[in-house]
Amino acid sequence: MPAMNADQAITPGRLRAMKSAGERIAVLTAYDASFGRLLDEAGLDLILVGDSLGMVVQGHDSTRPVTMDDMVYHSACVARGVHRALLAVDMPYRSYDSPEQALANARRLLAEGGAAMVKLEGGGERVEVVRRLTAEGIPVCGHLGLLPQSVEGPEGYRVQGREPEDARRILEDARALEAAGADLLVLECVPAALGAEVSRTVSIPVIGIGAGPDCDGQVLVVYDMLGITSGRRPRFVKDFLAAAGSVPAALAAYVAEVRSGRFPGPEHSY
Ligand code: KIV
Repeated sequence: MPAMNADQAITPGRLRAMKSAGERIAVLTAYDASFGRLLDEAGLDLILVGDSLGMVVQGHDSTRPVTMDDMVYHSACVARGVHRALLAVDMPYRSYDSPEQALANARRLLAEGGAAMVKLEGGGERVEVVRRLTAEGIPVCGHLGLLPQSVEGPEGYRVQGREPEDARRILEDARALEAAGADLLVLECVPAALGAEVSRTVSIPVIGIGAGPDCDGQVLVVYDMLGITSGRRPRFVKDFLAAAGSVPAALAAYVAEVRSGRFPGPEHSY
């Protein structure tokens, strides 16, 4: 494999090469140009404009109120600060109900928002949408496990895939998304053993959040890992700012701990 140039822009192919080489992929969310720049400078491989912005920026109690206009606006802001990392952007709730609607909205995120990849939630039921987008050359990231756009109330935020039947469904969904052309997969809130199994099963990189240490990469909401988010902190979150003392040092510590496999530890896993 050719040597990887640290300054080269990150592509989906590069993320796949990282998986093959056993190099862990570091991902965080961003919602504005300043954080986009800081994350890019810290060496994050992928920056996700998550619809978590509905909760951590807009103050809603769910991601569902987030609109396409919101995502285009925040994506364009982040894009102005990012030069190296791959920029992935969430498709908001009800923006990808049909392949045609998904295609029109994904094109907007690329053209107006500067996105290089779009992310959408769900498994087998999304295969037609993923096929349509990837057939048009739009890189897609799937999202399995806990699906925030489907959560009804605070009690809905719980670990997925504990029962063998649920674990089997998540594995099947991962295979189906890969076969439909997805380039990447986010896997949220599942037992560490299932995170490891999904990562072994598919050849596309699997980015875990609360999915244990054996995924191909890790993602957190940036406000969570800086200790800004109020309320009960989920088990999978670590406050990197507390020990690091500055935002750039906290981001550097996150990248280093993801790369070395020190984060997440058993205390952050299910
Ligand atoms: O919306 C978001 O920020 C996400 C990440 C938590 C993976 O989907």
